Amino acid sequence: MIRKYRFGVPVETEAVVQDLPCRKEMPESGRVLTDEEGFTYIRALEKETAIYGLGETVRGINKRGWVYVSENEDRSFHLEDARSLYSAHNFLLLSGPEPLGLFFDYPGRISFDAGFTKKDILTVSCDHADLYLYEITGESLKEICRTFRKMTGRSYIAPKWAMGFGQSRWGYKNEEDFRQVVKGYRENHIPLDAVYMDIDYMDAYKDFTVDREKFPDLGSFVSEMKDQKVHLVPIIDAGIKQEEGYDVCMEGLEKGFFCTDREGKPFDTACWPGLTYHPDFLNAKAREWFGNKYRVLMDLGIDGFWNDMNEPSIFFTKRTMEEARKKMREFLAKPAGDTPFFELAELAGQLSSSEVHKDFYHDMNGTRIRHDRVHNLYGYMMTRAAGEAFERISPDRRILIFSRSSYIGMHRYGGIWQGDNKSWWSHLLLNIQMTASLNMCGFLYTGADLGGFGSDTGRDLLLRWLAFGVFTPLMRNHSAIHTRDQECYQFEDPEDFAHVIGVRYRLLPYLYSEYVKAALNDEMYFRPLAFDYPDDPMACDVEDQLMLGEGLMAAPVYVQNAAGRYVYLPEDMLFVKFLPSGEMETQRMEKGVHYIHVELNEVPLFIRKDHFLPLAEAAECVEDLDEDNLTMLGWITKKTEYLLYHDDGYTRNLDVPEHYRLLSMEP
Ligand code: GLC
Repeated sequence: MIRKYRFGVPVETEAVVQDLPCRKEMPESGRVLTDEEGFTYIRALEKETAIYGLGETVRGINKRGWVYVSENEDRSFHLEDARSLYSAHNFLLLSGPEPLGLFFDYPGRISFDAGFTKKDILTVSCDHADLYLYEITGESLKEICRTFRKMTGRSYIAPKWAMGFGQSRWGYKNEEDFRQVVKGYRENHIPLDAVYMDIDYMDAYKDFTVDREKFPDLGSFVSEMKDQKVHLVPIIDAGIKQEEGYDVCMEGLEKGFFCTDREGKPFDTACWPGLTYHPDFLNAKAREWFGNKYRVLMDLGIDGFWNDMNEPSIFFTKRTMEEARKKMREFLAKPAGDTPFFELAELAGQLSSSEVHKDFYHDMNGTRIRHDRVHNLYGYMMTRAAGEAFERISPDRRILIFSRSSYIGMHRYGGIWQGDNKSWWSHLLLNIQMTASLNMCGFLYTGADLGGFGSDTGRDLLLRWLAFGVFTPLMRNHSAIHTRDQECYQFEDPEDFAHVIGVRYRLLPYLYSEYVKAALNDEMYFRPLAFDYPDDPMACDVEDQLMLGEGLMAAPVYVQNAAGRYVYLPEDMLFVKFLPSGEMETQRMEKGVHYIHVELNEVPLFIRKDHFLPLAEAAECVEDLDEDNLTMLGWITKKTEYLLYHDDGYTRNLDVPEHYRLLSMEP
């Protein structure tokens, strides 16, 4: 059951798609205080209550014991004390005999004190008492999640090729660089479906342009890559370079489609291209205009994109730069020994602080609204611009799109990647945990930069990370400029990488089927054990294993130099190891704690008793996958069935009976 409450005059975020009546009385689940100081929601927590949800945030699956703040930012240090990352997912789930879901539909800065200040109190607060609050009750966490997902609309479904493995790096510059990458993969028989084009393909970082010196004819290069069964996926950034004669800039100015300053003039910002303007994605007309721009690249054969820097990431504004320069001049006027060191160190941070959110405005459905009030919608609306345009431009084929920044509601238009992580073992664990929370909020098509984006990865870390990445819908190796080469063929014994990534393709019939079914039925693709076994206290404590779809449990190794790991089986399961020889080692295991040995070049997983996985032979790309000849793997004690979803991989007409095939397995 859903109870909806309105406070003040909320911004219509369109996060919710169901038309629900608002209740007149106060919320039942907690105490609400509203005044000119803002809005506060307070609820007492039982000692045993776990808090789930909040999507893209740091720390574990159970969010209790920290303060999280939804204020999207370009934050490359995903440290334990980070309060905000790139996205705002204001949905929480509270466990207990009467589980509860809470969604705070508020697009400004909002904080969630999950038993941090006071151990048994949840406090949610924001500066303006203008929001919708939804309380969702149900039998179980899973049911509440389903209700929430139905209320917020069907999750985006990517084309099937986008579940193949992708290679990315900030630093690939020209055609030759891309050819080398594809060659490295194909020569080593490491599967590959996509190579990502980072900002250097553009002319001076201008969206929807191509540097002609590096890519004299992008259209024919796209075909050359397609002949090798590789999709090129370019990046699109939120900031538009200020340049006389650049059509996107000129048109945006002419039509008044950029965010404006206090005086109503286009607001000056800065990002990769230097001085920029930021399109007003909250204005429906500007969205349509910007969305149509993707056609420039789609006409060349491009069928996938990633939207970046859309928190929005603003390196500086005219005001912050002028203030910094003034400060610098003051510092320089002092004797060197008197330079206030700490003030100097803080100066760079002030250039891009969230204070600039108060300096610019949107035109949202004819209403002028200051950016800080709607900040967290920016990446959502950029990706909505793209998603809606793709339906117009490509009515028959799904297009790949994922974003860095998001808000609930964006999950209908695209996926997200988990931002600029680091090549740290702790970030492999964070990837596992964050993925579960994102699924609760509707973001099924998601993945982290495998191997880690910043800092240098190791062969062992990359292999272990890939062994988790084989399960995430977005499976992409991405790294930052100036870090160690991170393509899989750059390491010793590339056949180990070929094998590990090959397992992804063996599992793909099941993974794709579970992914599409989860989206169509408002289910989670990944779930914490607590959601499936709420009455098993040991299962509820597990933070490093995930249930995936109907029958699979993932239990990755995420500790350096570990020969394996302990796992907790909440029921009898079949332990499966995909060995580099191509064979599988299986072992029946009873409910309880076990230690499993896993070599770096092996992929472990578990299958619930009386469930099975349909497996394909490994292939080097999705197109080459033979799905007519599947083998069934499971520990079966009775006749068992599995409903396989299988389509052409790109149709938009998904939920039709012809796409379902009933498979069965007997003991
Ligand atoms: C941002 C993105 C990263 C990209 C880089 C350069 O840091 O998060 O993925 O490589 O910008 O475009």
